[in-house]
Amino acid sequence: MDLVRQSLSKPDERGNVTSDLFRFKIRAKVRQLVNNYNGFLLDVGCGDGLLYENLSTKQNMLRYVGVDADHESLKTADDSFKNRKLSGLNFLKAYAQNLPFKDKSIDIAICINTFYNFHAKSDVVETLEEMERVCKRDGFIIFDVRNKINPFVYLSFKFVRIYDTDVTLNAYSLKELTTVLTSKGLVIKETIPIGFPIAMFAPIILVKVGYR
Ligand SMILES: C[S@@+](CC[C@H](N)C(=O)[O-])C[C@H]1O[C@@H](n2cnc3c(N)ncnc32)[C@H](O)[C@@H]1O
Repeated sequence: MDLVRQSLSKPDERGNVTSDLFRFKIRAKVRQLVNNYNGFLLDVGCGDGLLYENLSTKQNMLRYVGVDADHESLKTADDSFKNRKLSGLNFLKAYAQNLPFKDKSIDIAICINTFYNFHAKSDVVETLEEMERVCKRDGFIIFDVRNKINPFVYLSFKFVRIYDTDVTLNAYSLKELTTVLTSKGLVIKETIPIGFPIAMFAPIILVKVGYR
């Protein structure tokens, strides 16, 4: 599986194992969605910081903070950006379920390519609740759903033990994850299918949620 991922990864994403084609597309779409915004962007489960590549443009004045539970990934992120004299960029060690930020302090809260590796749905729910807590009322939240209605996702996740022994893969429906936020008064602003043109059946659905 690693060989397949490597061969599908983009050279400008450092050929890294987290840079397969779908993850690349998700990051590219997220960059488009935030391109005209300013303020504080939080990247939950930032890994080695690939989202930050090409995120800052002339159209935005985003300040970026990436959090991750894994020290090694954060070190890779730090090392890859530190020689570029960038300001407004920080990486912090923290757990997604317990974000070290004040209520309503973040303009854009993002968590991508991460929920499907969490061991339990309760971790995803807690993370979404934390993202909602820290997000400003005029801000928004973006996350992706590995869609269990898609047969390829369903089968490849269900039988993951056959081709990969040490990875956790959990798929969800769009509704079960968006309900966590819509039950708190947020609305779905956009659903973007990735990998198939119809969101309901796409392997991945990128979701933008905010207040009215
Ligand atoms: C597949 S990587 C995705 C990285 C990044 N979001 C991207 O798209 O390039 C998932 C990341 O989530 C991190 N992670 C897993 N569980 C976490 C948790 N509970 N809190 C914070 N980070 C976590 C992992 O360490 C890993 O770096």
